[in-house]
Amino acid sequence: MQVIIKKTIEEIANEVSEKFATLIEKKPKAVLGLATGSTPIPTYQKLVEKIKKRGLRVDGLTTFNLDEYVNLKFPKESYRHFMEEHLFHPLGIKREQTHFPPEVNPEGYDELIQKHGGIDLQILGIGSNGHIAFNEANTPFDAKTHIVDLAPSTRSDNSRFFPSLDDVPTQAVTMGLATIMEAKEIILIATGANKMKAVKAMLSGVATPSCPASILNHHPNVTVYLDEGAAGLLY
Ligand code: PGA
Repeated sequence: MQVIIKKTIEEIANEVSEKFATLIEKKPKAVLGLATGSTPIPTYQKLVEKIKKRGLRVDGLTTFNLDEYVNLKFPKESYRHFMEEHLFHPLGIKREQTHFPPEVNPEGYDELIQKHGGIDLQILGIGSNGHIAFNEANTPFDAKTHIVDLAPSTRSDNSRFFPSLDDVPTQAVTMGLATIMEAKEIILIATGANKMKAVKAMLSGVATPSCPASILNHHPNVTVYLDEGAAGLLY
């Protein structure tokens, strides 16, 4: 894993959006793996700017998101809604180009990704508990897309997007660790001191199910972008 530490979130967003923009320029039919959460928002903002400024076409792209809630009370809290707001709508990416893991036959999602030739570039965040997508601690490394019970710490972390903790769904459908590992290239971004413990565990060099993100030690093409807060325990 290559680890890059930057002073500001803006610098990270600039570099990561550049990687996506370069890929889209070179490969207009690229397959993008996308993440939700606070972390990728600055990157998506920069990407929208760059794509518009350079006049890049997006109509050949296909996207696969990492995860989606199950049994949402509020459609506005769905990850599809998040992506529409931050990326798809600003860029004019059409619904039929985009995919989210389904509640019914989730494993079919892995087949669909493969049918599109696999994910060229996957962006990831990391949970404060070391999860990637919604693969919580002790998820088997060979898991494909599946339905999960969300850890209490994940529900609490994500409650900021909901009226109250009780409104946060208890389940989600997520790409599995094996699904994520099939991406050709992965960029993981971690920002803020609340991620420092998870980052330290991920970069300890040993892949262990207690820190799902540590599976990335086994992937041949991963770049980890950290700000100084997230890198706080590495010095
Ligand atoms: P965040 O979530 O970007 O909102 O911190 C990251 C994650 O849980 O994977």
